[in-house]
Amino acid sequence: MKAIRYHQTGGPEVLRLEEVPEPQPGSGEVQLSVHAAGVNFADTERRRGLYDAKVPLPRILGSEAAGIVADVGPGVDKALVGKRVVAWTVASYAERAIAPVSSLVALPDTVPFDVAAAVPVQGLTAYHLLRTVGQVQEGQSVLIHAAAGGVGGLAVQLAKAAGMRVFGTVSSEAKARLVRELGADEVIRYDHEDVVAEVHQRTGGRGVDLVLDAVGASTWAASLAALAPFGHLVSYGSASGPPPPVDVDSLFAKSVKVSAYWLHTPHPPGTHVRALESLIRHVAEGKLRILIGLKLPLAEAAEAHRRLEGRETVGKVVLTVR
Ligand SMILES: NC(=O)c1ccc[n+]([C@@H]2O[C@H](COP(=O)([O-])OP(=O)(O)OC[C@H]3O[C@@H](n4cnc5c(N)ncnc54)[C@H](OP(=O)(O)O)[C@@H]3O)[C@@H](O)[C@H]2O)c1
Repeated sequence: MKAIRYHQTGGPEVLRLEEVPEPQPGSGEVQLSVHAAGVNFADTERRRGLYDAKVPLPRILGSEAAGIVADVGPGVDKALVGKRVVAWTVASYAERAIAPVSSLVALPDTVPFDVAAAVPVQGLTAYHLLRTVGQVQEGQSVLIHAAAGGVGGLAVQLAKAAGMRVFGTVSSEAKARLVRELGADEVIRYDHEDVVAEVHQRTGGRGVDLVLDAVGASTWAASLAALAPFGHLVSYGSASGPPPPVDVDSLFAKSVKVSAYWLHTPHPPGTHVRALESLIRHVAEGKLRILIGLKLPLAEAAEAHRRLEGRETVGKVVLTVR
């Protein structure tokens, strides 16, 4: 089969389209014929050697796939063969990928493969940031950085659906328009507006209840300063570099909380698959909009990475495989 692999860490140019053996499903696993694979910012960090650096190379990238079950491993119901599914899995920048049967979510015919491939990583992250970590309530306010991005755009919609007042930061006017369309109440151009001053001015000086920050180094100080008393800052990434160490003394004045979220932390069994089922149902019912900002063939994975790292993309970046 064809797959995108890298033999050494580095820039997008290390990604190569290669002919490799098809992976075989083990016990409790299926082999997917991949139709679309999602691209995530973490894939660019893995490729640069900043994340998951202990995984041996060469490596096939990719954390999510939508496609058709092509084969099943020992003990798995053969009736699954031919079913349309989506899964949060590994090594999905490829024509075939393996997924545990327990991770599969059935796809309604109305949800195209490219749309489905956009949901697992970014959808689950947005869902858990708001529900599991933020435990958000109607009437609260949230500041979402990089709100036009993959996780950001979904978090804006889920936060609005939960009845929150949503603030989004973006780096261009085109992104600002999009975030307003997705339902944000307030958009801040953090390339030239002062985020803290804008948040305080637009909240009567109070600040926001929750900040979701995956930008890191360049936004951290503003994220803390934008919090309302008893507010909560959740770090879930570091697109601009890691945030500084937390100075606990600085949290006292407003009694604020700082926490972190990672999708790979062991969650109670079945949590991710149930959340993914609900997200796919919302997509099928038209309640959650999946914006595919860039769709390229598998062979152009390097270009997809270049554009994502260059802050040129909005919404989801998808590789089409067949
Ligand atoms: N903790 C977890 O489990 C988890 C899971 C999924 C994703 N994440 C993290 O969530 C973040 C978003 O991921 P995503 O896949 O949805 O990507 P994305 O938001 O679609 O793309 C990254 C965005 O970050 C913003 N950004 C700000 N400073 C940047 C910089 N120096 N370099 C590049 N981008 C910068 C850009 O938006 P603007 O131009 O508008 O600033 C860019 O479009 C990433 O940090 C990722 O690692 C974490």
